[in-house]
Amino acid sequence: TYVIALPCVDVKDRACVDECPVDCIYEGERSLYIHPDECVDCGACEPVCPVEAIYYEDDLPTVWADYYRANVDFFTELGSPGGAAKTGVQAFDHPLITALPNQVP
Ligand code: F3S
Ligand code: F3S
Repeated sequence: TYVIALPCVDVKDRACVDECPVDCIYEGERSLYIHPDECVDCGACEPVCPVEAIYYEDDLPTVWADYYRANVDFFTELGSPGGAAKTGVQAFDHPLITALPNQVP
């Protein structure tokens, strides 16, 4: 799967959402998250992110290794909705993201 890391937090450019052929990039309050089971590893989202927040799981920089779990665990309650557009914006984030100070002063 692909993973969205720290640079997305409080930026949420959303260019990635328009590229994803399976609509598996879901929106939380301060970040977006890629559904690990719905992502088909097409890689279309990765080059369009202006802040380089998206990585294939094996290429995730070590400092952001925890973001793999953040993307997976974001869906603990949501399950596999099968489409981000119909699911809409969630009013929560993974605790790792919630704990961060504002990233865009
Ligand atoms: Fe975030 Fe980059 Fe997508 S900032 S919303 S991962 S285009
Ligand atoms: Fe979509 Fe990116 Fe996966 S475009 S299918 S989230 S690699």
